[in-house]
Amino acid sequence: MERITITGGVPLQGEVRVSGSKNAALAIMAGAVLASEPVVLHNIPHITDIYTMMAMLRRLGTVVEFIHPHSLLIDASRISNLEAPHNLVTRMRASFSVTGPLVARFGFARVPLPGGCDIGARPVDFHIKGLRLLGADVSMDGDSVTAQAGRLKGNVIYLDYPSAGATQHLMTAAVLAEGTTVIKNAAEEPEVVDLANFLIALGARIRGHGTSYITIEGVPRLRGGEYTIIPDRLEAATYAIAAALTRGDVYIANANPEHMMPVLFKLQEAGVQVESNQTGVHVRLQGRPRAVNIKTMPHPGFPTDIQQPMTALLCVAEGVSIVTETVYERRFRYVEELQKMGADITQENRTAVVRGVEKLYGATVEATDLRAGAALVIAGLGAEGDTTIENIYHIDRGYENLVAKMQSLGAQILRTSDEPVLVSAQGVPVCSV
Ligand code: EPZ
Repeated sequence: MERITITGGVPLQGEVRVSGSKNAALAIMAGAVLASEPVVLHNIPHITDIYTMMAMLRRLGTVVEFIHPHSLLIDASRISNLEAPHNLVTRMRASFSVTGPLVARFGFARVPLPGGCDIGARPVDFHIKGLRLLGADVSMDGDSVTAQAGRLKGNVIYLDYPSAGATQHLMTAAVLAEGTTVIKNAAEEPEVVDLANFLIALGARIRGHGTSYITIEGVPRLRGGEYTIIPDRLEAATYAIAAALTRGDVYIANANPEHMMPVLFKLQEAGVQVESNQTGVHVRLQGRPRAVNIKTMPHPGFPTDIQQPMTALLCVAEGVSIVTETVYERRFRYVEELQKMGADITQENRTAVVRGVEKLYGATVEATDLRAGAALVIAGLGAEGDTTIENIYHIDRGYENLVAKMQSLGAQILRTSDEPVLVSAQGVPVCSV
């Protein structure tokens, strides 16, 4: 088993560069299935979720290769298989989003239902309802979805909830549909905007992306092209919070402050010094942060994915913070891990009351999901003594070279393993797919 070990108490100093956005890249890779000519994506992060999506696309018959360290060629001109493999979809929910592009382009797709995970049930009912509104005949047999259609037809889709994934998935399905599709109550996340901009670069006709009302005019086909993925606002926020908790002074390069506003404003409210410019964010804090309340909401509200890292910071704040998680029903399992480090948190249903303590203490803890793992790294960096984090495969899903990046900021952090691990040229564990 692989672990991360940290000796806490070192203020992070220096500059760290943010990688490409996991949640934009995954949606865009699924959307590349629509293109009848090769596509080149730049600023792709080396993380295991990307490797899983690459394996998924290869199983469909797509050519997927890194042609430069962070540039991926995807050639879906000769897709030969319209059935997605069970093990890959259940491993990563985002791979379910190949369903719409396959049906839109080939009239058929058979894809396993993604499972739930530690933060919630993660249903896909909005996705299925939207595909049916676009004219697909969608049937479920056991744990798989079969979707078929002649040519999809534009329609008005009203999402019960501004779901990021459903908005992305249905936007890709609508791009080749006949006529006009309107998605109402659409998600406004930057990753939705990035997907729309990618599709437009290939010839799609989309308006209103970034608002709750998106209009897609169907086109007969998408050409190939090149596109650069936006920086990962969630990775950037993680480093900003780590800098604050360790009372450090860090410049986060290649971040887009516009995408991080809810987090940056909340950090400032907590007394953190934040200065941003076009290409990055400078974060400093001398003493303890002030307690603040956070309530997760769809973008542009406070992002649920930063609820966990932010709570780690609030554990050592002066005062009492209230953390309310409105997006997922089970995103507090990491609280008991923070309690092992001395955090004073009481949690009931979707609310946690965090009473700030002077300091946390190193302990052996377990990552329960991607962002919980990030929260435990942050807590360990600020704790007194040594922290060991287990199940770090969760962290590898969404953070490129986290240990090396933190070491470059002065952190005393190591990755250890009981047995040899197969890694990519970039040092990322290559799960056997
Ligand atoms: C995306 O997941 C992100 N993942 C998540 O990030 C992020 O937490 C989430 O959006 C919210 O911002 C990727 O982009 C790969 P949703 P997604 O559909 O699309 C419910 C991370 O850490 N819902 O916006 O799956 C759902 O249960 C990951 O990077 C339905 O009920 O999230 C949840 O309560 C974790 N039915 C809410 O909507 C549906 O059909 C928001 O989910 C779809 C969603």
